[in-house]
Amino acid sequence: MLHNSDARFRIEGASAAQQQAVDALAQQFLVSDERLAAIVKEFRRRMEVGLAADCTMLKMVLSHVVWRPTGRETGSYFAIDLGGTNLRVLRVTLDGAGGATTEHQKFVLTEDAKRRTLFDFVAQCVETFLDDRSLRPAASAPPLSIGFTFSYPIDQTSINSGTLLYWTKGLDVPGCVGRDVVRLLEDALLRVGLRARVAGVASDTVSTLLAAAYADPAAQMGVIFGTGTNAAYYEDVAAIAKWKGPDPPSREMAVSIEWGAFDSDELAILPYTPHDIKLDRKSLNPRRQVYEKMISGMYLGEVARNVVLWLADQRLLLDGRSSDVLNAMWSVDTSYLSAAALDDSPDLSEIREIIEKTLNVPMSTLVDRRIFKAIAILVGERAARLSTVGLVATLTKRPALLDRPLTVAMDGSMYEHYPGFDRIMTETVSRFIPARQFANIRFSLAKDGSGIGAAVLAMLATQHSAAAAQ
Ligand code: BGC
Repeated sequence: MLHNSDARFRIEGASAAQQQAVDALAQQFLVSDERLAAIVKEFRRRMEVGLAADCTMLKMVLSHVVWRPTGRETGSYFAIDLGGTNLRVLRVTLDGAGGATTEHQKFVLTEDAKRRTLFDFVAQCVETFLDDRSLRPAASAPPLSIGFTFSYPIDQTSINSGTLLYWTKGLDVPGCVGRDVVRLLEDALLRVGLRARVAGVASDTVSTLLAAAYADPAAQMGVIFGTGTNAAYYEDVAAIAKWKGPDPPSREMAVSIEWGAFDSDELAILPYTPHDIKLDRKSLNPRRQVYEKMISGMYLGEVARNVVLWLADQRLLLDGRSSDVLNAMWSVDTSYLSAAALDDSPDLSEIREIIEKTLNVPMSTLVDRRIFKAIAILVGERAARLSTVGLVATLTKRPALLDRPLTVAMDGSMYEHYPGFDRIMTETVSRFIPARQFANIRFSLAKDGSGIGAAVLAMLATQHSAAAAQ
């Protein structure tokens, strides 16, 4: 990496001490290709370990999804998409030509839901959705069939059951770890008088993959770079030593890598800075999800806040000033970094607004704002480059697939909104995959794929259980 000659990190008007500090940050945050290659190698090794046995760093969750949609299926399905920030309830109508229309309602997860009442909150939202549209089934009707996207790690025991391994993304609801999340949901729905049967439960990555596959037979991976991060891909069952069930006719199964946990507990290979370690130590899940903490939207603002305070404490930024807001954990939202990285105005007025109004620090100089922008770029660029570790390791896992067109379905706020994330990620992946094969890869935004994918899952599970019963 050429940080010394990289104009973005040469701060016009900075004192020698300030420039030295920014150089040191660039040194820490810019990860070389060589380092990335070494991390990819270790990631691949961990994937193999996870496919061979349970309870490893990369869980390689077997989704029991052994089908692909054809795109010709039709019907309306209910779906619940529980993410890290929002809950969406949907009715999805598959049109039989790879397209879908949705009726949906979005609810922001309340703090109480995140700490205490999650499944009751979900049930109440489902009730609101149905009642607002007069869709509540009569008491004598068969139970409502639902596809459930659950964006937290489960040990999946069947297409419609799985026990929660641990919470991620700031959730901490007691009484759930080790329990079947489908039962928890069905029971909560019963408490509001709704008889429902979850036809299928899946990670948001598997749902994103299924939504893309409904429209595009070349879809092989579903990836989320949002509040959290993870990916799923279709694996050859012959490569899944821990799979003890019968070989499916398709010989493939979607596997959710749970890659946010890469390097957890060991903290041995990722390029941690003291700012990451500080975040990790103070988080709800220390030493867990450490890869996610360097990449995903939930954490990047906090990494940047630690950097800002580190500079301020040395009087190299904001003349040592801070504020109650800036001193509070999580007060720097990752969206402020996106806005800062994008600010090209001569006096960096957007950044002034963020520092002086949003973060309530009374005054900033232009040099302060230039440094703030450099921090936003560094934290975002590192995230984009590290995100390629999982992508490259997974894409090269089944190299033969790269000899024909292959779609990677992507979703999440970082991918969609962080300036440069998409470009840097794609460019970095291209350095690790031969050009002939790279040309076959299409990264495509699968907007809200996790909602539509839950409906595709409900459709597939219902279809195949009906076929099995015949
Ligand atoms: C969760 C995954 C999820 C990812 C993206 C992570 O925190 O552990 O299950 O797929 O976030 O939402």
